[in-house]
Amino acid sequence: MGGRYQTVGLMKESYVHGYELSEAIRLQDQASTLVDLLHSDTSYPPGSRVLEAGCGVGAQTVTLARNSPEALITSIDISEPSLAEARERASGAGLKNVRFERADILQLPYKPASYDHVFVCFVLEHLSQPLEALGALKAMIAPGGTITVIEGDHGSAYFHPDSAAAQKAIQCQVELQRRAGGNANVGRCLYPLLLQAGYAEVRVSPRMVYVDSSKPGLVDGFTRKTFTAMIAGVRGSALSAGLIESELFDKGIEDLKRTAEDDGTFCYTFFKAFGVKQ
Ligand SMILES: C[S@@+](CC[C@H](N)C(=O)[O-])C[C@H]1O[C@@H](n2cnc3c(N)ncnc32)[C@H](O)[C@@H]1O
Repeated sequence: MGGRYQTVGLMKESYVHGYELSEAIRLQDQASTLVDLLHSDTSYPPGSRVLEAGCGVGAQTVTLARNSPEALITSIDISEPSLAEARERASGAGLKNVRFERADILQLPYKPASYDHVFVCFVLEHLSQPLEALGALKAMIAPGGTITVIEGDHGSAYFHPDSAAAQKAIQCQVELQRRAGGNANVGRCLYPLLLQAGYAEVRVSPRMVYVDSSKPGLVDGFTRKTFTAMIAGVRGSALSAGLIESELFDKGIEDLKRTAEDDGTFCYTFFKAFGVKQ
């Protein structure tokens, strides 16, 4: 889930969340809170070759590798600093079945059909060519193999108490991501995108996060540290782009924080899609 422009060696990619430490921590909080919801039904057979595209700091890699300890996972990203962190995280977790490589999804350095499965999480939302990316990944999959894609959709965020200011702050993130070439509402597009890219047996499973104060782990891990932290993170970019006045943005963030109080609630839906390469 996630605006700033970043020049990286292989291509100029605009990645709305940036690559700083606070973003790495946010991605880790996001991953650990959502593990069951997003990953409980993802595991790959022993010996299968899995390509994780856009692994970032390895927040999902650890779960992937633990759930499929005998699969051979190759995790790629375009950002070398993120890969360095991912390597550290994987070695700290004692993972032996993952190798990390720097690569661009649109120019993958592997032979066609050299993977059994591809896994992509929170990446398409940042790409200006999601269809091309899905096509390039399909070329990597052996016939009968699968792709799994997980994305959020900021249009699915609603909460109590409701707040026009909070919705405007969220819209700043959506607009910044759009200007950077991405789509913060891509979750709802996964079905048509996978079909258009030529995958078969496409199915999409919505994964709703519902948070109230009876779930303190989610209040802290999701409402505060994942979603609100992500929107708060675009304050500087939103103000410099003239998208909103500072007072309104700050009220929006305060109102998002308010939803994490005892009588607040927060809802968000992720979309998990599967497709088969024929
Ligand atoms: C929001 S992060 C998600 C990281 C990880 N999948 C997770 O869920 O924690 C998106 C990642 O996609 C990577 N990325 C963006 N465009 C890419 C491309 N063309 N090729 C490879 N990686 C890319 C970025 O560098 C970033 O690490």
